[in-house]
Amino acid sequence: MRNIVLLGYMGTGKSAISKKICEKTGMRYVSTDGMIVEKEGMSINEIFEKKKEPYFRQVEKDIVRDVSELENVVVDAGGGVVLDKENINNLRKKSLLITLWAEPGDIHKRTKSRGHRPLLNVENPQKKIKEMIEKRKPYYEVADYHVNTSSVGVEEAAESIIKFARTR
Ligand code: S3P
Repeated sequence: MRNIVLLGYMGTGKSAISKKICEKTGMRYVSTDGMIVEKEGMSINEIFEKKKEPYFRQVEKDIVRDVSELENVVVDAGGGVVLDKENINNLRKKSLLITLWAEPGDIHKRTKSRGHRPLLNVENPQKKIKEMIEKRKPYYEVADYHVNTSSVGVEEAAESIIKFARTR
């Protein structure tokens, strides 16, 4: 099977569903955010605060380039990976691209109690979520397959992605 990359906005279920796919297929879980934290020795919040977003995006791009060379992996990609065309071109070489979507209200519920997402540490996160999704929509649309996690659970989403990957 080809590698699987999960794209999508924050809180659409990328981590839970990637891990479930790994559990079911024996593929290896890779998180771009996890690798960034490891490489920089700082949390995502700290990187945004101390080094600022452009620095984060450059590290993310380097990590994506490395990850694109791996085999037999499921990549849990940070929500902003899609914004750089080179990231998408690199990932496409060996992987199927899957976008997870969810309703802004669900994303808000899933992300509000956890403080590790600097872009959502704002006065009105719900408004920000709506606006960002609208703006990023064309970027997320590049995927080969799409799943709406407001209508299916983790198990069903993972099964449907595996089924799709097996037909490719
Ligand atoms: C971001 C998403 C986050 C993380 C960073 C920026 C984004 O990853 O990379 O906070 O721009 O959408 P998750 O989508 O895994 O939360």
